[in-house]
Amino acid sequence: MNVIIYVVILLVAISVFGLFLLWSIFIIDSIVRGHDLATSRRATKALFKIISEHKTAKNFYDLGCAHGEVACRIKKKFPTLCVDAIDNNSVRIFFAKIRAFLFRQNIKFLRKDIFEMNLNDADIIYTYLWYDVMPPLEEKLQKELKQGAIVITNTSNFPTWEPIQKIVTYPKVSKTPNFETLFVYQKDNQL
Ligand SMILES: C[S@@+](CC[C@H](N)C(=O)[O-])C[C@H]1O[C@@H](n2cnc3c(N)ncnc32)[C@H](O)[C@@H]1O
Repeated sequence: MNVIIYVVILLVAISVFGLFLLWSIFIIDSIVRGHDLATSRRATKALFKIISEHKTAKNFYDLGCAHGEVACRIKKKFPTLCVDAIDNNSVRIFFAKIRAFLFRQNIKFLRKDIFEMNLNDADIIYTYLWYDVMPPLEEKLQKELKQGAIVITNTSNFPTWEPIQKIVTYPKVSKTPNFETLFVYQKDNQL
């Protein structure tokens, strides 16, 4: 009997230690690497509305998916959409894969630099990236995207493309310019 109690205590201790280790890795990565803010619920709702207006869309990409929150919410809302989510941070992709496993969602999480991805089959692209990434990304998408493809950027926008729609989801004043504002672009309209 005593042995069973010791085994149970040991298993509980190992589980608690494992969870603490995972939590520490999550927090340390967030502090050291930064830029892992997830899209807010309000912005996600606006994103749902934009996606639902493009009923023929098949392939959705979240470029810079961090821990996969928004990718999972989108897959849940649009189960037939093929969702690919990319991040160059292994730790974040690891947690994103755990999330997809726990919620039984079929999402392709890839640890890769977004500039190494071929995006020519994308119907809808979503980004919530730092400002300095936007000029080279605009250049890449201009070359690679098919006509009619939709690009939605959150907070940071492209330097020369004109958005077809701008949705303010955080109406309060923020230190970050255009914080949680969604910029919607369409490939056709840039030419
Ligand atoms: C603010 S988070 C976005 C989170 C997620 N898209 C969301 O909305 O919930 C930005 C992420 O982009 C990733 N990132 C930045 N530059 C990247 C690049 N060149 N290739 C892949 N991922 C990148 C960062 O590692 C970070 O996790």
